[in-house]
Amino acid sequence: MSTKKESLFDDQDTQAPGGMKRMRIAVLCGGLSNERDVSISTGTGAARALRENGHQVALLDLYLGWDRPFSDPAEAFSDDAALGSAVIGDASPDLDEVRAMRPDPECIVGPNVLEICRAADVVFLALHGEAGENGKVQALLDLNGIPYTGSGYLGSAIAMNKGLSKMLFRENGIATPDAIRLRKGEPSRSVGFPCVVKPCSGGSSVGTSIVRTEAEYADALELAFRYESEVLVETYIKGRELTVGVMDGAAMPVIEIIPKSGFYDYKNKYQSGATEEICPAQIGAETTERVQRLAERVFHALMLDAYCRIDFLWDTASDEIYCLEANTLPGMTPTSLIPQMAAAQGMDYGQLCEKIIEVSMKKYRE
Ligand SMILES: Nc1ncnc2c1ncn2[C@@H]1O[C@H](COP(=O)(O)OP(=O)(O)OP(=O)(O)O)[C@@H](O)[C@H]1O
Ligand SMILES: [Mg+2]
Repeated sequence: MSTKKESLFDDQDTQAPGGMKRMRIAVLCGGLSNERDVSISTGTGAARALRENGHQVALLDLYLGWDRPFSDPAEAFSDDAALGSAVIGDASPDLDEVRAMRPDPECIVGPNVLEICRAADVVFLALHGEAGENGKVQALLDLNGIPYTGSGYLGSAIAMNKGLSKMLFRENGIATPDAIRLRKGEPSRSVGFPCVVKPCSGGSSVGTSIVRTEAEYADALELAFRYESEVLVETYIKGRELTVGVMDGAAMPVIEIIPKSGFYDYKNKYQSGATEEICPAQIGAETTERVQRLAERVFHALMLDAYCRIDFLWDTASDEIYCLEANTLPGMTPTSLIPQMAAAQGMDYGQLCEKIIEVSMKKYRE
């Protein structure tokens, strides 16, 4: 089996754009979360860009693993390994269908995943949702001494839990909508209407509903509990939706999100043309400055590192900016929000992937 040292390239003089050393990179995507399809799109885009940048790339599905025979895991990084393509449907994928594709469905980490990650110089995490964005994969890689992109296990776990994040927002003086946490089977309580019901650790708006009446409330709780045993019921904030990336502690340009109909649900997030995304947001210099500084405070309050994207609602009537949540492995499909923010800073998609690796590797040099 190759060791990390052996896996480094012999031709160390070869440079990727930006002066970065040519590396062996495992792009980890897919997995068994509701955001599996989005993750495959992120992973495919990043793998293609990193290969174009001159790196040797293995694109790996965390759940399905690598089932082709090999004598050395380094073979997974061969320059002609297929990268495939990805399509994001109108709704989140049927995970039972995915489970049925593996003979041993109990283990989340598929065959040969760890072996191939060990042979990489760095793992580029393209996972979204549950195992992947919630700190578990980060902890697994830490325990195996494998460097990876994005936040560490603790920040990832905190940011994944919207209830826990809220406590830290409050402690740090960051406004966030009032909310209650409900556990499955507990007597139902309410924050009044309108409100927003969402699974506590969800993403991509899966299982999230905007609720205006008591009758809608029961249905919304039933839907959210299908995904998780802990649900957040938040006061509805009427306002403009803003999102800000943070790269290495510094805010990126702000984007305003305007769905053409309804709220920013799964379909409006991923179907092209369904939502207007204005970058940079036309909100004036003062609000831009406020929301950017808030995003940087959230980054530190939740103990994040490398990069992330923070979602806000700006109540223009009261001029209050509420933080909804932080995304520690934000979407990186070629049309996603972070690539748009990077483009506004003059960084193309390939350069953004390099930047993510560069800022993520800092902590391994400390
Ligand atoms: N309190 C609220 N008031 C008004 N709208 C809200 C509220 N909470 C959530 N929303 C709407 O629901 C969407 C999804 O909510 P949120 O960002 O909390 O969850 P998410 O599913 O984790 O998102 P992501 O895909 O960014 O991970 C928001 O983008 C917003 O449009
Ligand atoms: Mg969000």
